[in-house]
Amino acid sequence: MVLIVADPASLTAAAISAGPGQTIGSPAQNLAILAGSGHDSLATDLARLLGLTELPIVPERFPDGELSVRITESVRGRQAVIVQPTGPPVDEHLVELLALADACRRGAAAKIVAVVPYFGYARGDRRAGIGTPVMASLVAQLMQSAGINHVITFDLHAPQIEGFFQIPVDELNAMPLLLPPVRDGLGSDVVVVSPDLGRLGLAALYADHLGTTAAVVHKRRTSGRESHVLQVAGDVAGRPCLIVDDMIATGGTIAGCVDALLLAGAQPRIAIAATHGLFLAGSAELLGHPAIGPIWVTDTLPQPAGSPPRRSVVSVAPLLAEALDKLR
Ligand code: R5P
Repeated sequence: MVLIVADPASLTAAAISAGPGQTIGSPAQNLAILAGSGHDSLATDLARLLGLTELPIVPERFPDGELSVRITESVRGRQAVIVQPTGPPVDEHLVELLALADACRRGAAAKIVAVVPYFGYARGDRRAGIGTPVMASLVAQLMQSAGINHVITFDLHAPQIEGFFQIPVDELNAMPLLLPPVRDGLGSDVVVVSPDLGRLGLAALYADHLGTTAAVVHKRRTSGRESHVLQVAGDVAGRPCLIVDDMIATGGTIAGCVDALLLAGAQPRIAIAATHGLFLAGSAELLGHPAIGPIWVTDTLPQPAGSPPRRSVVSVAPLLAEALDKLR
């Protein structure tokens, strides 16, 4: 696994500052960008930063719902880069990614790179009990069977997911992208809060970079929709907080965490930084809690305009372009 934890100051300046019409590196026509329907604008940003044009794809949906795709330019001998986060509708985006990969393999692409900034089913990283599957492992097998040779992704829910693959997995870290606005927006008295034990390492890293302390909320998940906060460990009384997480889906985890922090005496000034903003139906209401201030997420998934309030979106395209540039 390549875990990029770059200091924001050391991010490739050219990648960050490339404006409209500018590219990083030199055009390399052996890379071919294919945009799945999961995130058109990210694929376009990447193509622009790398000085490439996207290959045309014609999707076809049959009356019974089955999918096919046609790539109308040759990928023979080229490195096919398929950009497709597998966010909602997860199964549709996953099947489309597999279809594109299979088309590239059968079209004799030299290598198939899947850029999956958000990896759907990542929370299925272990058996939930007798009679249950390990969905993230199954997805890894499907991707490899379809011919994918290399995966580039962001902040996987659990580190063991990389071990489900026998191919290279570059897991990029969004923290260097989220830190600058977080640092500009918050004071040094902030406490960084992990909403569960799984994110404690991330909270500690943020705390180190911000020169402050970390706390953790002990949470027990009872189903895909519900979790219960049990207690807060760490000194949050009288302090503003920054909750850091890998994803916001229903908003239930954040809402529970906010309640627990307020009960523990935290100031009603709570900011949030998360890599993946799914913002499912109902989340805007939960995240509209008056104690919640700025919410920073990245665009690993397309971000609908509007709700929730006070949300800012940071682009992952520069980091992805930098990772792809290394493949030329
Ligand atoms: C859980 O383990 C994850 O890290 C997130 O905290 C969780 O998946 C967020 O989901 P929701 O917004 O639905 O609570």
